[in-house]
Amino acid sequence: METETFPILEAKNLGKSYDGTNGQLPAVNNINFSVYKGEFLCIVGPSGCGKTTILQLLAGLLSKSLGTVLLEGKSLTRPHQDISVVFQKPNLMPWRTVLDNILLPLQIEGVGEKEARERAISYLLKVGLSDFAEAYPKALSGGMEQRVAVARALVRNPRILLLDEPFGALDSFTREQLNLELLSLWRNQNITAIMVTHNIRESVLLADRVLVLTPRPASVYKEFKIDLPRPRTEDIEYTPEFVNLAYNIRKAIKA
Ligand SMILES: Nc1ncnc2c1ncn2[C@@H]1O[C@H](COP(=O)(O)OP(=O)(O)OP(=O)(O)O)[C@@H](O)[C@H]1O
Ligand SMILES: [Mg+2]
Repeated sequence: METETFPILEAKNLGKSYDGTNGQLPAVNNINFSVYKGEFLCIVGPSGCGKTTILQLLAGLLSKSLGTVLLEGKSLTRPHQDISVVFQKPNLMPWRTVLDNILLPLQIEGVGEKEARERAISYLLKVGLSDFAEAYPKALSGGMEQRVAVARALVRNPRILLLDEPFGALDSFTREQLNLELLSLWRNQNITAIMVTHNIRESVLLADRVLVLTPRPASVYKEFKIDLPRPRTEDIEYTPEFVNLAYNIRKAIKA
């Protein structure tokens, strides 16, 4: 995908500390990076290093201790309609059908009923769940629940999709399947995607660029450009280029 040269989202000297029992606990320290329009950026780092904190700061869901997040050059301090988030847990409402779960953000936005339904149904189709419109979440597998969560995030037509290890709880086969589906949605919808993960192979499969974080407090340690051809399929994981990139990223994380 063509990426333009101006950043759509920027983190500038971002810092976050939490109030801990023994004073302040620094979770994120002096994070700087830019994300370009149309890009797929993965941010990888060890467990507990501050990945979720970074994503919540980018989403405007958490107050910063230091620094700024810029959305097309403008300071972002609260959730914005251009930015949707997919969390690790699907957080579906159990009393609403699949279709009604996807409709929820549109109802909150006040989109007219007819248009909202059409949009929700089209996204159900895009995530391969059109037969489950009237099903309740308890009837879904973990992978299906996350497909609903992705549809619910995309139905608002965001320009930026933030993903926090969205498929981390799934078995590796389902996870790969959902990653490939995500890639095709990303390409077709022309969005900018930022995913945090601790899975190195996942980051190489998906990203144009991978940022490696330090252990907590997270800062950006290294950046890798992933010049693998697109569209990507699972076969790419067995190429020497893929294996080499994954190896170098692993080394950077261990360093
Ligand atoms: N609400 C909070 N209050 C206090 N401390 C927090 C809070 N949220 C996170 N932390 C601490 O900040 C640090 C970073 O947490 P964060 O969840 O951002 O890491 P992570 O990289 O997403 O972890 P994981 O790999 O487990 O998903 C951790 O030490 C965590 O205990
Ligand atoms: Mg996390």
